[in-house]
Amino acid sequence: MNFHFYSACCFLIIFSKVSTAIDTLSPSELLTDGMTLVSRNGRFELGFFTPGSSENRYLGIWYKNMPMQTVVWVANRRNPINNSTSMLKIESSGKILIQVQNTTVVWSTNSTARVQNLILQLLDSGNLVVKDGKDSNPENYIWQSFDYPSDTMLPEMKIGIDLRTGFHRRLTAWKNWDDPSPSDLTYGIELKRNPELVLKKGLEKYFRSGLWNGNGFSEAPNYRSNPIFDYDFIWNESEVYYVFSLKDKSVMYRLVLNQTQSQRQRYIWSPETQTWKLFAVQPDGNCDKYGLCGPNGNCADELPACQCLTGFRPKWFERWNSSDWSDGCIHSKPLNCQSGDGFIRIGRMKTPDSANSWVNKTINLKECRAKCLRNCSCMAFTNLFVTKGGSGCVMWFDDLLDIKYQSDGQDLYIRVSASEAEKKKMAKVKLAIILATVIVVLLGFLLLVYHLRRSRRKLKDEVEDNNLYDGEDEDENEDMDVAVFEFGTIAQATDSFSFMNKLGQGGFGPVYKGTLANGQDIAVKRLSKSSGQGPNEFKNEVKLIAKLQHRNLVRLLGCCIHGDERMLVYEYMPNGSLDKFIFDETRCTVLTWSKRFRIICGVARGLLYLHQDSRLRIIHRDLKASNVLLDSEMNPKISDFGMARTFGGDQIEANTNRVVGTYGYMAPEYAIDGLFSAKSAVFSFGILL
Ligand SMILES: *[C@@H]1O[C@H](CO)[C@@H](O)[C@H](O)[C@H]1NC(C)=O
Ligand SMILES: *[C@@H]1O[C@H](CO)[C@@H](O)[C@H](O)[C@H]1NC(C)=O
Ligand SMILES: *[C@@H]1O[C@H](CO)[C@@H](O)[C@H](O)[C@H]1NC(C)=O
Ligand SMILES: *[C@@H]1O[C@H](CO)[C@@H](O)[C@H](O)[C@H]1NC(C)=O
Ligand SMILES: *[C@@H]1O[C@H](CO)[C@@H](O)[C@H](O)[C@H]1NC(C)=O
Ligand SMILES: *[C@@H]1O[C@H](CO)[C@@H](O)[C@H](O)[C@H]1NC(C)=O
Ligand SMILES: *[C@@H]1O[C@H](CO)[C@@H](O)[C@H](O)[C@H]1NC(C)=O
Ligand SMILES: *[C@@H]1O[C@H](CO)[C@@H](O)[C@H](O)[C@H]1NC(C)=O
Ligand SMILES: *[C@@H]1O[C@H](CO)[C@@H](O)[C@H](O)[C@H]1NC(C)=O
Repeated sequence: MNFHFYSACCFLIIFSKVSTAIDTLSPSELLTDGMTLVSRNGRFELGFFTPGSSENRYLGIWYKNMPMQTVVWVANRRNPINNSTSMLKIESSGKILIQVQNTTVVWSTNSTARVQNLILQLLDSGNLVVKDGKDSNPENYIWQSFDYPSDTMLPEMKIGIDLRTGFHRRLTAWKNWDDPSPSDLTYGIELKRNPELVLKKGLEKYFRSGLWNGNGFSEAPNYRSNPIFDYDFIWNESEVYYVFSLKDKSVMYRLVLNQTQSQRQRYIWSPETQTWKLFAVQPDGNCDKYGLCGPNGNCADELPACQCLTGFRPKWFERWNSSDWSDGCIHSKPLNCQSGDGFIRIGRMKTPDSANSWVNKTINLKECRAKCLRNCSCMAFTNLFVTKGGSGCVMWFDDLLDIKYQSDGQDLYIRVSASEAEKKKMAKVKLAIILATVIVVLLGFLLLVYHLRRSRRKLKDEVEDNNLYDGEDEDENEDMDVAVFEFGTIAQATDSFSFMNKLGQGGFGPVYKGTLANGQDIAVKRLSKSSGQGPNEFKNEVKLIAKLQHRNLVRLLGCCIHGDERMLVYEYMPNGSLDKFIFDETRCTVLTWSKRFRIICGVARGLLYLHQDSRLRIIHRDLKASNVLLDSEMNPKISDFGMARTFGGDQIEANTNRVVGTYGYMAPEYAIDGLFSAKSAVFSFGILL
């Protein structure tokens, strides 16, 4: 009886709590410790809370109905309260304050306004605002918590600077799980000459986004194609800010600074598992670390990480050779500004630090070059915007800092001595001659094949009656179709290209692990979007590559074409790549000599097949340990063959730039003159051996 009575009471209490959930507070009301405001959509809740194992109380906003406390904003970060006597109220002047024991003010805002229907409201976006209750224009908020971010950036929140007042909105990490007070890790817009987003530790830059190129940030120019959120960067006379919005508003998504990892992390809520899933982190890898390679050094996700830019040499060889890159590089031939320098183009780069740069949004590349050439301290230039074929001008002065190679980066024109520029030009001419020769030889070869086939067909007609000729050879595989996967299938298999499924970053784009609905594991290579190949050309190319089948080649299962996005689907290799074994002190013990020997023979057989036994003769231009994958029985399989083919055209040059990163494996004639042949692939094999 009693029990029923109590449960009925409890039910009533809970029910009344739910039904009276309110999202506003007026000047006549108090929010004491224990009471909360709930946004109208029920997503966010405002009240007093205790973080981690701390005993202090803070006023904050968190996600309601979540198994783990996820706080997105804290009011009194610097002024903790050590008991539950606190209350929140709003004065009729528009000022919000937290008081303890009715008297002491622990925290307050500065806002003032003369408004009739003043209210404090927790909006559906997680924004706490002071406003006129009758006015719904967001521009007229008297005060909003989005102007004073803690460590979390939510959709529609602006991170940036109001250029008229100098008001700065930036994120600051919590000290630790238990203490929301501001640490030294901050994330915001750095306004030197050209604004960019910078993650800083104290006064030191830790990671930068690179310039906004009209489409994205230089650091991740194609990131906008992600399925979760869109973003924008506004820069005009009145303000400069970064903002993002969700493509699907029902998704819960946040960007947060993590003090222990010194990272900017993006999380997405997974309703199935009731956990936050890491969607992306920055900095991600060595090359994201600010200035790792010193002045004029270029970083690539290879070993060693740093290379001098073309036309430069290490300032101190001894230090550079022992992986101390902090001194960076200097011009290998001194510049001579008066009698003329030149520029060389380096493709696929993240733009250098903008602290010492200059921009003009209207002038074109040609004028930009002329302007840069005239100013002796101008060391590099390029287009500011990459959209619509490129426009605008950026110039960098003195040392070039924090550059990295990236597959979807942009062109950079670097000042070198006239003789150096001339050398590069000669190399280009040489390459052109070689290409022309190759094409002529190929054409001749094709003609020869055509004639041979015709004569063979004649022969075939003659001998067909005798059944001597095995006709299968002729049209075999012609109708062997490569699977063309739906984008939806791939997205589902890879969990929307989730960060957790990323296997690595290859020269032609990131690789993701996926599982098809039938349980088959796949590896998906998402090609960088610059090949300019049409869908049919691409499909034909894939068909050609798919015909290459050998037990020591990774099998291509199919492809996926979605808009201008191209993906290749391979069988998944559970043991990853060979370099993960060779260069790892513990894992390399797995490789006994007999296993090593088997791997060597396997790679050799695969290479022989590519060079001699397959129909398409393929030259692997980047054979190295990380391109040899191992299946569950440690059988080696060559990957990334035919990529240069698939990618075609102007990629040859991009590949040559990539070569810089893999110098160790390059045959000299390839590294110097760009001359590749079966011999250069065998050279690489020798190094691998
Ligand atoms: C409660 O905490 C506040 C600030 O931490 C302090 O000023 C106040 O004296 C405390 N009250 C009691 C009853 O301990
Ligand atoms: C709470 O903080 C006040 C000062 O802010 C201090 O005087 C008081 O002793 C503290 N009370 C407890 C229980 O820690
Ligand atoms: C606190 O303030 C409220 C309203 O102003 C008042 O009713 C109450 O008596 C005060 N309590 C104390 C302990 O001063
Ligand atoms: C409020 O104004 C005072 C003085 O103008 C300033 O020192 C303080 O930092 C301001 N507080 C906030 C939260 O803006
Ligand atoms: C700056 O851009 C914002 C957002 O597009 C716009 O609302 C504002 O009017 C612009 N200001 C100027 C001075 O162009
Ligand atoms: C920081 O990141 C690590 C690794 O991703 C995670 O385990 C930890 O919970 C994060 N800390 C905070 C305060 O979010
Ligand atoms: C550093 O390495 C380069 C290239 O491997 C070599 O040419 C040079 O002699 C080395 N310098 C020193 C001082 O070890
Ligand atoms: C950009 O260059 C154009 C043409 O030289 C010039 O008219 C304009 O004033 C420049 N803008 C800035 C911001 O320097
Ligand atoms: C070169 O550009 C820098 C930076 O804008 C400027 O300070 C310097 O005066 C310029 N030099 C010449 C010769 O124009």
